[in-house]
Amino acid sequence: MRIDVITIFPGMLEGFLGESMVKRARDMGIVDLRTVQLRDFTHDRHRSVDDRPYGGGPGMVMKPEPIFDAVASLSAPDARVVLMSPQGRPFTQATARDLAAEEHLIFVCGHYEGVDERVREALVTDEISIGDYVLTNGVLPAAVVIDAVVRLLPGVLGAGEAGHQQESFSEGKLEHPQYTRPPEYRGMRVPEVLLSGDHGAVEQWRRAQSKARTRARRPDLLDGAD
Ligand SMILES: C[S@@+](CC[C@H](N)C(=O)[O-])C[C@H]1O[C@@H](n2cnc3c(N)ncnc32)[C@H](O)[C@@H]1O
Repeated sequence: MRIDVITIFPGMLEGFLGESMVKRARDMGIVDLRTVQLRDFTHDRHRSVDDRPYGGGPGMVMKPEPIFDAVASLSAPDARVVLMSPQGRPFTQATARDLAAEEHLIFVCGHYEGVDERVREALVTDEISIGDYVLTNGVLPAAVVIDAVVRLLPGVLGAGEAGHQQESFSEGKLEHPQYTRPPEYRGMRVPEVLLSGDHGAVEQWRRAQSKARTRARRPDLLDGAD
């Protein structure tokens, strides 16, 4: 998969790209992830990517031309162009799965008051929000989406980690509780069934726990929200 992230703050992604699972996916050649400096597509002395809003009001708005030109420079007519925006569709595991099936994703990270509406109208294929709160710019939201997508790509997680099927949200439920050694810690014992070696009983316990936990914490999921 190819991923391009268009931003005026490529440095914010450096740690993210060089660590953990995304680094591994890049090293293995499973994902080709690049940043694109939006200011490289400006033509004025100050390399301005923003301007005052028509109609007045506070703040600055990101100009359309550099964003259109940056996307055009990637000459990728089949790519999904994802605008990170608090006004977008809420990000879910289903969206992560959908994006993971693509060959090429382009993320457009906003800043200031947001982007000129014509970017939404004529350039982006998806507008995604990572939650009902407002961050300063779109880099962290893009990193959240990229992380969720890349770990779903075949081969990224090792055999021992590839628990996608039972993970929270994958079957519309939260995952069951997890324990590891020791079997007793500060008086708290691991449930006997997990130590029993009875795989059928363990499976039954996990399913029941997953359902009860979802009902208690996220009943909306049981209504089929995701
Ligand atoms: C300060 S926000 C702009 C908010 C905009 N004025 C509004 O009220 O919708 C600047 C940029 O941060 C990013 N951003 C902020 N919060 C986000 C969220 N919850 N999900 C996705 N992107 C977000 C977007 O790229 C946005 O263009």
